[in-house]
Amino acid sequence: MSNQKMDSLIVSDMVDDDLESVVALWQVCGLTRPWNNPYSDIAFARSQVNSTVLVGRFEQDGEIVASAMAGHDGHRGWTYYLSVSPNHQAKGLGQAMMKAVEDWHLAQGIWKSQLMVRTGNEKVIKFYEALGYNVSATQLLERWIDPSKRGDA
Ligand SMILES: CC(C)(COP(=O)(O)OP(=O)(O)OC[C@H]1O[C@@H](n2cnc3c(N)ncnc32)[C@H](O)[C@@H]1OP(=O)(O)O)[C@@H](O)C(=O)NCCC(=O)NCCS
Repeated sequence: MSNQKMDSLIVSDMVDDDLESVVALWQVCGLTRPWNNPYSDIAFARSQVNSTVLVGRFEQDGEIVASAMAGHDGHRGWTYYLSVSPNHQAKGLGQAMMKAVEDWHLAQGIWKSQLMVRTGNEKVIKFYEALGYNVSATQLLERWIDPSKRGDA
């Protein structure tokens, strides 16, 4: 077992100094889109009482290697921007982050956790299934109620 594999992951709410590391992580993981400015998404989530941005950092050196946005809408819990550094994937860190998100949801009084997977990223569904998530029979409908923010998808 490598030393890196033995590193412990500490999960917490992100702080201001984590901003550039989190944005870089989302970008390297291919999660950003032109119509979702990560800086304003992070600022908005951190400004609300029903959402947060979690970071996972190695205890040994403090490096941020994982992140997730957790929130709830007063009924269901949601996860966005789950990301693990490509250098540290397949070591259980994604699973640890989802556990932290679920713990956050439970602490908020939420008992069902949901998430959306973009078309084209279906390979990640196997990951979520390994964690006990099922593909929902629900259809998602959407409408840009502020057309000025409209993106391509
Ligand atoms: C998806 C992602 C977060 C997974 O993180 P990870 O740290 O590599 O995953 P883990 O090591 O915690 O895997 C947990 C379990 O899922 C399984 N798993 C992970 N990826 C898998 C895949 N592509 N296919 C099948 N199983 C997979 C693992 O085998 C493991 O199960 P096990 O413990 O029984 O072996 C990571 O690949 C990532 O950041 N991807 C890019 C960003 C992204 O797509 N985010 C999701 C947006 S919806």
